[in-house]
Amino acid sequence: MAPVGYRGCSVVTTVTIRAYAADTGSGLVDVLDALKVHSASLFGHAEIAFEPVAIFDRPFSTVARLRIVPHEAAPFYAFTKIYKERPPRPYETARTTAEVVEQEFAATLRLHTALSGRPGFASPRPIARFPEHGAIITGELTGRPLDRVLRRARGVSTPLLQSVATRIAAWLRAYQTSAATGETSCWSRDEGRAYLDDRLRYITPGFLAPEQRARALALFDALAGQVTGDEPLVPIHADLCPSNILVLPGGGVAVLDFATAQHGTRFHDLAHLYMHLELCRNRWRQRIGISQVQEALLAGFAHEPAMRDPLFRLMLLQHVVCHVTQVADSGGWRPRAAVRALVRWRWEVLMRMPALGGATFAMDGRHQCPSDASTRSSGAEASAISPISSTASPSRD
Ligand SMILES: Nc1ncnc2c1ncn2[C@@H]1O[C@H](COP(=O)(O)OP(=O)(O)OP(=O)(O)O)[C@@H](O)[C@H]1O
Ligand SMILES: [Mg+2]
Repeated sequence: MAPVGYRGCSVVTTVTIRAYAADTGSGLVDVLDALKVHSASLFGHAEIAFEPVAIFDRPFSTVARLRIVPHEAAPFYAFTKIYKERPPRPYETARTTAEVVEQEFAATLRLHTALSGRPGFASPRPIARFPEHGAIITGELTGRPLDRVLRRARGVSTPLLQSVATRIAAWLRAYQTSAATGETSCWSRDEGRAYLDDRLRYITPGFLAPEQRARALALFDALAGQVTGDEPLVPIHADLCPSNILVLPGGGVAVLDFATAQHGTRFHDLAHLYMHLELCRNRWRQRIGISQVQEALLAGFAHEPAMRDPLFRLMLLQHVVCHVTQVADSGGWRPRAAVRALVRWRWEVLMRMPALGGATFAMDGRHQCPSDASTRSSGAEASAISPISSTASPSRD
């Protein structure tokens, strides 16, 4: 079977696959050996062939599609993800690849158990993990990554994408209530501010102007001041973005990649995906109705408009800061000036989202001071927030 292309990867030839598989540096040989050693306990038979049919070199991992041929039974496909070692950034909590693998496997297993049999939701079946090789293996799900669907959206109707968005919102609600996790903590304003400030401090020299950092913190304070009551923490995916969502043939959805699954607020994942949809609009010059897809996502998640909720807006702000920090760090071979321009452009585009104050935070620093009676913030910081219309925002597509 010909391998299909995956995000950020070209289709590889058999020759390349053999070369990769032979290269011990990728870790694939070790993983294939470990699968063979454990095939009796994993698959109930020792005589099983494992054949890599596609390999994708990704920034933080090597992903291989495996053809698994059991003895006298029909072959099936699985994916192995082998994490690359990388030093943690100064603003990150250090985790070993073994810890990441264990955590991802546990979250994938919990979800698979909780969602099995629920129509419209599929979830990857965890097959094995080899923490010592930084590897996890999951059964293949048939579907197309949402980022590819959006990128090649010609021929895909907006109503179809809206129904996918509604399904993702339903998935999110099911995930958040998927299991009693024993988590009793609530969202902490101080921790949220420290998280934001760590990243802002890291990128301010060279990427953002000090006034931009100050304005982002002022916006945080204004929004945090409006969050009333305790916000309990729920299970979150923490990297819910189009490339981690598969659109299944019948219109259902599956979510992949639980490497960062943890606990957070109920709006964490929703705001993260909302921001990534915003990036799709700007990155690929989409002519499909991204605004309608975003609205379907929010409406599918909550009856009350999430856009008006200060916690949703706060999560959005947090994700924007986190995203531009990652962009600033992902320079690689690119000249620093190019990375800087990219960071500034992304910042400008994202901070212009209506939920973050529209044009208020544009790079030129000009500051609108809307007087919004419905915005219950106080003092000078209140002027950092522009009003959110109670009606649906006009389409920006
Ligand atoms: N079980 C699976 N079924 C179908 N496709 C899969 C499966 N596992 C991985 N894939 C494909 O491989 C791609 C990469 O997998 P994954 O998201 O787990 O790793 P990653 O993207 O390298 O991690 P990161 O999000 O840090 O970049 C997915 O976008 C998807 O296209
Ligand atoms: Mg991924």
